[in-house]
Order: sequence, then structure tokens, then C-alpha cells
Amino acid sequence: MIHTPVCDLFQIRHPIMLGGMAGSTSVPLVAAVSNAGGLGTLGIARTPAEQIQPQIGAIREGTKHPFGVNFLLFLAREPALDAALKTRPPVFSAAWARADQDLTSLFGRAHDAGSKVMYMVGTVPEALRAKAAGADVIVAQGTEGGGHVGWMASMTLLPMIVDAVGSTPVVAAGGIADGRGLAAALALGAQGALLGTRFLATKESPLHPNFKQAVLDSDGHDTVLTEIPDVARDNVWPGAMARALRNEFIERWAGREWELRARQPEAAAALQKAQESGDAKNASLLIGQDAGLIRDIPPAGELVERIVAEAGAVLKGRLPKLVR
Ligand SMILES: Cc1cc2nc3c(=O)[nH]c(=O)nc-3n(C[C@H](O)[C@H](O)[C@H](O)COP(=O)(O)O)c2cc1C
Repeated sequence: MIHTPVCDLFQIRHPIMLGGMAGSTSVPLVAAVSNAGGLGTLGIARTPAEQIQPQIGAIREGTKHPFGVNFLLFLAREPALDAALKTRPPVFSAAWARADQDLTSLFGRAHDAGSKVMYMVGTVPEALRAKAAGADVIVAQGTEGGGHVGWMASMTLLPMIVDAVGSTPVVAAGGIADGRGLAAALALGAQGALLGTRFLATKESPLHPNFKQAVLDSDGHDTVLTEIPDVARDNVWPGAMARALRNEFIERWAGREWELRARQPEAAAALQKAQESGDAKNASLLIGQDAGLIRDIPPAGELVERIVAEAGAVLKGRLPKLVR
């Protein structure tokens, strides 16, 4: 059993969090992680406002334990924020605000709704911005991670953010797929770990089975930081590219982003078709380098237990023996 102050803050048993991945989390996955003692988080950045309350209601039917909801702030619209905060979620998690967005008033509203605020960053200045705005927990996300990430690796970014934010708890994200990763994050000063890619390959994950298999097939060397998925979808992300599997879709457009821009509607339609049909070669598959550590598709709850047990063995068994 590993216990950190974040466990008390969020009232969870294990300092393990599911990344609130929009479109790649689901009510069963969130409930499974929370029921296992971690923090399940539903990514609702692209969920229509009228579907938010029913989905949060379904989580509450699936678990009596705390959970979170996640917004990508640059996309967030008032009706969706309002719908989510009205449900008083235990944790309000967010990332990727534009520079002109007012985090202080948003975090204040979340606190008024009774939520703890967790904000994910990829740089020290963003961490300081989130702390000044009143975030309860800061997630330091390294570039190894899947999805939209910055350019700094966890090994350096995490302790830099821990030093910078002082008393505010920091959780590590990016490149963590097992108990060794959790133990390393704790050693660097984190109070927990937030995992995305690892949870994509679980029984409850909503990913198409072909995409789960693609995570298993990846050796971790075959991901790339790219703007191609965003160009294809006509997204302008504030300060990030995406880490994706370097599959045929990426290869087709690499170095020809100018042409992708010109043919964007056509490319978006082809991409959508590939996402829906489970075509792993032509879809956009956002995964982290830690895919190279993933070899099975366990139930999410079992995975939480496994990671905690493995981290405990490293911290209590292997590491103490190294100290004379
Ligand atoms: C498919 C996918 C979608 C993601 N979507 C979101 C999102 O909507 N909001 C968010 O805050 N983070 C999102 N992330 C990032 C995760 O929260 C997390 O930081 C990242 O997955 C950690 O790295 P890892 O994949 O190596 O575990 C996403 C990640 C992936 C892989």
C-alpha cells in the first residue's frame, strides 16, 4: 500500500489516476479505476453539454468512490462547464488553457461546486500559473506521454515543477505504465501518477480492439511528436503537438503538411472513417512511448492493483537494499 497526501486530498486508496482522455475514456473505465481505489476521470472535452449530466450520473451509479471530469480548456464552452459543475464532481481536472483564459475565476467556480482542482502542464511557467490560480494539484506531463504533450521529458520536468510549486502537490504523467514508473515518479517528488496510454489497453477501455492491439504491437520507438492529426482535424492546439503512432496516416502526410492543409476536409473525412472502422494504419492513434511497456489487456481494476503492488516491491524491497 502506498499512501501520499494526494490520497487524502482526493479520498482515494491508491495514488493512481486515469488521464481524462476525451473520446478514449468511458463510464465503465472510470468506474473500474475508481472502484479499484484510483481516481477514474472522464474526458468530456468534446461531450455535448446535454450528455454531461447523464454520463456523470452513470458514473455515480457505477461507483461510490471519488472520480474526476476533464476539460481541454481552450475548447471548453460555458454550457458544458456549467453542466459539469452543477453535478459537483469530486475532481475538476483540466489542461491546455489559452494564455488569455482566466484560470483563477474558473478554479474558483470549481471550488464553489465542491470540487478539487487538478491542472495538467508541460512547463514550469504553466505550473506557476496554475498554482497562482488556486489549483489543488498540478500534473507535470512529460513529452513521453501519449496525446498532446510539451517538449520536456518527465525526468527533468517533474522535479523542476516540484521545486517550483513548493507546497502544492504534483502528480506525474507521461511515460508511466507500471509500478517501476510510479516508484520513479515518487522518487522524483511526485505524490502520484496519472496514466493514459496504459489504460487504453484495458478490458473496459472504449478503444476499438484493433487500436488496443496496436498499443500492444508498438515497441515504443514508433511514436512521433506531430501536428498532422490536428492539421487533419483543423484543430489549433495552444502550445502542443500530439504524440502519435507513426503509422501509414502519419507517414503519408509527414513533410507534406502544406498539402494536408489544402486537402483538409477530404483528409478529415478519411480519418473519421478510419477511426470508426478500426483501421489502425489509417487512423490517428495517440499513444505514448510507454506503449513499449504494454503487453496485455487486463481489467483496469486489476491493473491498478498490479501497479501499486509492483511499486511497493520496488520501494520496500529493492531500493532499501541499495542503501548502506
Ligand atoms: C488518446 C489520448 C487522449 C488524451 N486526451 C486528453 C484529454 O482530453 N485531456 C487531457 O487532459 N489529457 C489528455 N490526454 C493526456 C493524458 O491525460 C496524459 O497526460 C497522458 O496520456 C500521459 O502519458 P501516457 O500516455 O504516457 O500515460 C490524452 C492522452 C491520450 C493517449
